[in-house]
Amino acid sequence: MATTKVRGRMSAAKVRVLAELGPRYAVDLDPGRPLGERLGEAFGRSADRMLDVGIGNGEATVAWAAAHPDRDVLAVELHRPSAAATLLAVEEAGLTNVRLAEADVRSLLAEAAPGDVHDVRILFPDPWPKRRHHHRRLVDPVLVATVAGVLPPGGTLHVATDWEGYAAQVVAAVEADGRFAIDPTAERPDRPVTTYEALGRAAGRTIHDVCATRR
Ligand SMILES: C[S@@+](CC[C@H](N)C(=O)[O-])C[C@H]1O[C@@H](n2cnc3c(N)ncnc32)[C@H](O)[C@@H]1O
Repeated sequence: MATTKVRGRMSAAKVRVLAELGPRYAVDLDPGRPLGERLGEAFGRSADRMLDVGIGNGEATVAWAAAHPDRDVLAVELHRPSAAATLLAVEEAGLTNVRLAEADVRSLLAEAAPGDVHDVRILFPDPWPKRRHHHRRLVDPVLVATVAGVLPPGGTLHVATDWEGYAAQVVAAVEADGRFAIDPTAERPDRPVTTYEALGRAAGRTIHDVCATRR
């Protein structure tokens, strides 16, 4: 079970945002009931769901949700100030198809049943560039196997990173799992340049999008 604890320091304004908006957008994280049931209740409808993992300030989450009103987006984030910033952006955009799980995605996915989630997107996961920290990287063979066990055929796993070695690690994990097809010619999925993508570009790094489809 994942043990990561990232909560972050909160300004008074962000504490207020979470207190006011949290109840409206939060998913019930009590594992006493199946996750699919809790998600259906939180969204109030049955639609294909995208798990947007590590959302930062939510700019890509908001853009995707606005472009896909027929789909639902579960934003998963460990960092409380990021969760608050995202809820504010969702509220300002007037979106009804976004909910928030303040959780470690590994714990959440461990509770998921096949079909609970149709797509998983992880934009610019923490790179842990030092070799001795590579074991902390989120997207590893265990996470890939968990995602493969949850996605239906045709569901997708999309990981973007500006660290070439991390991209290679993701491709290796996906290929070794064997349950996905990677399209190496796939175009960059439509998404805004996020805060961390901008940092990577400014540092001169190349952006890699690994797009894998569940067979
Ligand atoms: C480098 S930031 C990228 C933020 C944003 N996607 C972007 O592109 O600007 C990585 C984010 O992933 C979150 N995160 C890290 N591990 C996580 C986990 N196990 N579950 C959920 N979120 C996680 C961090 O709190 C952080 O907000």
